[in-house]
Amino acid sequence: MKGLILSGGKGTRLRPLTFTQAKQLVPVANKPVIFYGIEALVGAGIREVGIIVGDTKNEIREAVGDGRRWGEDVRITYIEQPDPLGLAHAVLIAEDFLGGEPFVMYLGDNILKSGIVSLVEDFRERKPNALILLTPVPDPTIFGVAELEDGRVVRLVEKPKEPRSNLALVGVYMFDRHVFEAVKAIKPSWRNELEITDAIQYLVDHGHQVEPHLVSGWWKDTGKIEDILEANRLILESLSGSVEGVIDKDSRVSGEVVIEQGVSVRSSTIRGPAIIGTGCEIVDSYIGPFTSIQKNCRIVRTEIEHSIVLEGSEIADVGSRIDESLIGREVRIYKCPPKPLAFRFMVGDKSEIGLK
Ligand code: DAU
Repeated sequence: MKGLILSGGKGTRLRPLTFTQAKQLVPVANKPVIFYGIEALVGAGIREVGIIVGDTKNEIREAVGDGRRWGEDVRITYIEQPDPLGLAHAVLIAEDFLGGEPFVMYLGDNILKSGIVSLVEDFRERKPNALILLTPVPDPTIFGVAELEDGRVVRLVEKPKEPRSNLALVGVYMFDRHVFEAVKAIKPSWRNELEITDAIQYLVDHGHQVEPHLVSGWWKDTGKIEDILEANRLILESLSGSVEGVIDKDSRVSGEVVIEQGVSVRSSTIRGPAIIGTGCEIVDSYIGPFTSIQKNCRIVRTEIEHSIVLEGSEIADVGSRIDESLIGREVRIYKCPPKPLAFRFMVGDKSEIGLK
């Protein structure tokens, strides 16, 4: 079985971060989102993985590499999609790579806690034409939605205005070669994309076996900032602490905290679960639960929790606690001189600032 990870697309809902970075590379617990998908595929015994890439192909290639990081025999092939014409279009252009073998398609911005080992085993043994994962969600209008009757899939609609069920399609699918017949037959949707949801409907309508599976653990589509923070919280919940950096005697660290090499913690309190990336300096500060700080950041006289700070940022003397924030790369947040009494911003397009 092969794997296909979709890492093209535009990431408009994650601006401004995605002006300068692929959305699949935004870190959750200091690891790019796409790595969770690769690990899930490799964990299920898949060795040949194709990655669909678009405008951000160079960055993705640089971060992911040739696959060896996940095992000597793991091979990654990059497949270029000139425009993000839809998930089914991505399958279409991967036809040569997939070579008629059954495959797992994994959306590069999804994280599925439980992994996919037993699902892949099940698919291999029982050989349906497709296996889809479903989970109940509070707002089905922003997902593909499936309608079941007596446990069988009867209808699938992409982002329905009036959903007929609360079962969203999770971004992990398994297909055999019949999916190519479907992706070639369907027409673009109202948003001008070839929808995988329509391709699955085609399989249902043409008598192919589409098996639904309800996901038991948590699942996150990290397409929006609040979902990234939530995914970060959920991953950090199962973190095991380890300290490789230096913590001075005036600091206190409690709970599960990862402090990587070259970190210096001085006169600070860190309450886990939290992760502090290599080369960070934490001085006179409080780092609270569910915080991930990427490498080479400086946090000085600042309180922060339930947040993500990307590499190379510096936060100093923030007068109140920073909460539920996602701070990009090489950002500087600091206190202005006392006069004139004013805020001073240099903020990129589509940024968001919440003042108390
Ligand atoms: O996350 C689950 C949802 O994912 C499903 O419930 C929907 O049925 C499915 O259509 C999809 O919806 P999204 O609108 O969230 O898909 P998005 O455009 O975010 O694309 C998902 C991933 O696929 C993302 O990593 C970008 C990549 N992609 C997307 C398109 C449209 C490509 O590689 N090529 C593309 O043409």
